[in-house]
Amino acid sequence: MACSSGWPDVTVMKPIQVGLLGIGTVGGGTFNVLKRNQSEIVRRAGRGIEIAMVADLDVERATKLTGGAGQVVNDAFAVINNPEIDVVIELIGGTGIALQLVLKAIDAGKHVVTANKALLAKHGNEIFAAASKRGVMIGFEAAVAGGIPIIKALREGLTANNIEWIAGIINGTSNFILSEMREKGLPFSAVLAQAQALGYAEADPTFDIEGIDAAHKLSIMSAIAFGIPVQADKVYTEGISKLTAQDIRYAEELGYRIKLLGLTRRTSQGIEMRVHPTLIPEKRLIANVEGVMNAVLVKGDAVGATLYYGAGAGAEPTASAVIADLVDIARLHSAEHQYRVPHLAFQPGSLASTPILPIGEVETAYYMRMRVVDRPGVLASITAILAERGISIDAMVQKEPAEGEDQTDIIFLTHRTLEKNANAAIASIEALATVLSDITRIRLEGLN
Ligand code: NDP
Ligand code: HSE
Repeated sequence: MACSSGWPDVTVMKPIQVGLLGIGTVGGGTFNVLKRNQSEIVRRAGRGIEIAMVADLDVERATKLTGGAGQVVNDAFAVINNPEIDVVIELIGGTGIALQLVLKAIDAGKHVVTANKALLAKHGNEIFAAASKRGVMIGFEAAVAGGIPIIKALREGLTANNIEWIAGIINGTSNFILSEMREKGLPFSAVLAQAQALGYAEADPTFDIEGIDAAHKLSIMSAIAFGIPVQADKVYTEGISKLTAQDIRYAEELGYRIKLLGLTRRTSQGIEMRVHPTLIPEKRLIANVEGVMNAVLVKGDAVGATLYYGAGAGAEPTASAVIADLVDIARLHSAEHQYRVPHLAFQPGSLASTPILPIGEVETAYYMRMRVVDRPGVLASITAILAERGISIDAMVQKEPAEGEDQTDIIFLTHRTLEKNANAAIASIEALATVLSDITRIRLEGLN
């Protein structure tokens, strides 16, 4: 219906009817922000966005949260079976019932918004194919880097570019833990409990601390950046649970910060996808991203390096991304499917089968720490092994032995080399009788 100016009269258009599945941390935030900012959102979307139904296992808590607005049920399938619902927001999490609900919603011709990166990492290709076939949209801005609009930036803002690489701090919980350990000297377990209480951590916090959640997000960004299917199982993944306060301190002494970094890069041999603790020069902006904040650096051939920063988790920051998807759907749902932005940025028929490089073929620099006997010739035998493998040393520090001790720590920073060369050198050095510990190896990226 048009008003006298010829533009749609938003006051008379029927609000888009939304079904919310799961009203926990993100669901609660979404409900509150949508309610609080409804008038601005209507002015942007061109029509109202109304949460008409909410499903949650805890109906009493959900009813309290919604204050009687919309119908509250405990059966999420009832929302999907309601023909009045246009869009389903899945905020339950996991890959069990969430998958069934999303596929059923698509089948019923409903658009879907989800923050569930685990689901998209595992079943994204199937979900996007089903949605394209049915002509519905899947919004997933909230699935990567919480409130940062990185999906929109990669899919639309940077669409002119050949993306060269992306490096991101994309797990708020692990960044929060690393920050608190470094700044306050707190133990790992205490900080993890704090992150859980604040609602940042996944239902299974090993997803956060072992790099799995970051790997899920990286696989989604990599697919959008390079036009490949989502392949989370091919991400090399190492978490932060084995990092010691000692390495965080030594890295600082050398001018670096340790961050859990997700990195994907296009090379002439294939695509790198890896998540691991990484030394980053402290002068880089991204090295100074602290707490639950996330940041993603994207290097495009035309634009150069661009940096996106913001809250990577939490109720309202994530709700901001969920609602952005709702507004996109409200604006675009009447457009023909082929005029909408493709789910993975590239047309579904144009996805490439570029190989993903195994970690042994990845080139990076290293921090290597080892405990050695403090005796003449020890250093020479170690540097000889590095030289044999063609590994060039960038910096070296030998700590003074403690009073009365004849052993000490040596730390090398190397130049870039293939990981398989580093592995071979590490095995040979560890076999020396004068090397008393396993080598702690942390990858290092200059990001310049
Ligand atoms: P919560 O655990 O806080 O919320 C999930 C909600 O879903 C709970 O209220 C839960 O009820 C409800 N629920 C569980 N099973 C069902 C079911 N079968 N039917 C209906 N409701 C159900 O999780 P979050 O809000 O933290 O996370 C939701 C999603 O968002 C996840 O995919 C997560 O990875 C993602 N995400 C989370 C972020 C965050 O900061 N928390 C940030 C970005 C993404 P009950 O509690 O009674 O079990
Ligand atoms: N557990 C995730 C994190 C939530 O800590 O980043 C946001 O995806």
